[in-house]
Amino acid sequence: MNVKTGGLEGIVVGNTAISTVGKEGVGLTYRGYDIHDLASHAAFEEVAYLLIYGNLPTGAQLQAYRDKLVQLRRLPDAVKLLLETIPGTAHPMEVLRTSVSMIGALEAGHASTEQDIADRLIACTPGMLLYWYQFHRHTTRLDESEASENSVAGYFLELLHGKKPDDEHKRAVDVSLILYAEHELNASTFAARVTASTQADFYSAVVSAIGTLRGDLHGGANEEAMRLISQFKTPEQAEKGVRERLAAKTKIMGFGHRVYKISDPRSDIIKAWSEKLSRQAADGYLFEVSRRIEKILWDEKKLFPNLDFYSATAYHFCGIPTSLFTPIFVISRLSGWSAHILEQRINNRLIRPEAHYDGPAPRPFPPLADRR
Ligand code: ACO
Repeated sequence: MNVKTGGLEGIVVGNTAISTVGKEGVGLTYRGYDIHDLASHAAFEEVAYLLIYGNLPTGAQLQAYRDKLVQLRRLPDAVKLLLETIPGTAHPMEVLRTSVSMIGALEAGHASTEQDIADRLIACTPGMLLYWYQFHRHTTRLDESEASENSVAGYFLELLHGKKPDDEHKRAVDVSLILYAEHELNASTFAARVTASTQADFYSAVVSAIGTLRGDLHGGANEEAMRLISQFKTPEQAEKGVRERLAAKTKIMGFGHRVYKISDPRSDIIKAWSEKLSRQAADGYLFEVSRRIEKILWDEKKLFPNLDFYSATAYHFCGIPTSLFTPIFVISRLSGWSAHILEQRINNRLIRPEAHYDGPAPRPFPPLADRR
């Protein structure tokens, strides 16, 4: 046997009751609910509850869940000290990877269920990220307990901008959190499940997932998409620049997908938000730049935008710095990762595939003195 690709494409490795991705080439559901319905009618907290607890909350359960997330925001002093110690030049994904690990070391054994750990991490990651950000950018020490917003999206924007967020920006971020929340066995979720399958602790599984999400081929694509889009002032400039990149066989981040073959069902939802927000933004022309890039990629390569492409400008128009794009993905995907870690626990078997060996044939071990 010769294995041409190590990408595991098309290989089914287990059952899941959490989501369907790309059945019939399109489509995304979380526990049976279509992503369009969730993005139109739900809030991120409802979706997180759905993923972690298995059912949509009732009104009373949702209120209690929101209250719980607000109560779980508190950052221990030791974490704040750590965040002040991590250099301001670090990538924010390094900050999250390190601070989640620290929370794990400080709070191991505190929570009564792993669902409580999931909720704690969703609640405190915006504060950890923005405590570090504000301390190193503006030498201010955030007091996370002073924020008045009770949604995750509103809390994030309030800590970032230091004021009550604009309602439209808040809903745009809320929708993006819903879209990013879960996506079956993507690379980071698979990493979380592999770690959980060794019976490692919950925090270790999440840290594995954060490390895996960081790369440009996965969560890092939204930041790279923004870096590309923001180089152009007009659609014509974008057309020239993108054609040059394609001729040089450079990948355009935010396009293509391993599973979807026709389109990414999340893309049109966030694209509509990007267009809406562009109307009030000083550099709203970046939406037209993005549209031209989309057209070229389709005309030339039949490649469609994935969620990351229009998320970039949607976040940008909300005043979010590019380096915080992938960390927002973490805050959201914590809900999906958690659902998968919990599912892995239910019927666990160690995940341990095999490789086809194509190295040297067995040979005698040479003494050190004979080696060249
Ligand atoms: N730009 C240019 N060409 C591309 C792109 C792209 N974004 N994506 C795929 N292609 C081309 C490849 O160059 C390759 O062409 P070739 O056959 O002529 O060599 C062909 O399409 C197949 O590409 P692969 O990378 O082998 O396909 P794979 O199934 O591994 O791709 C992936 C999936 C990794 C997402 C790829 O499309 C990519 O790298 N996209 C850019 C990164 C990105 O946007 N990642 C975000 C994923 S979604 C998410 O995390 C929310």
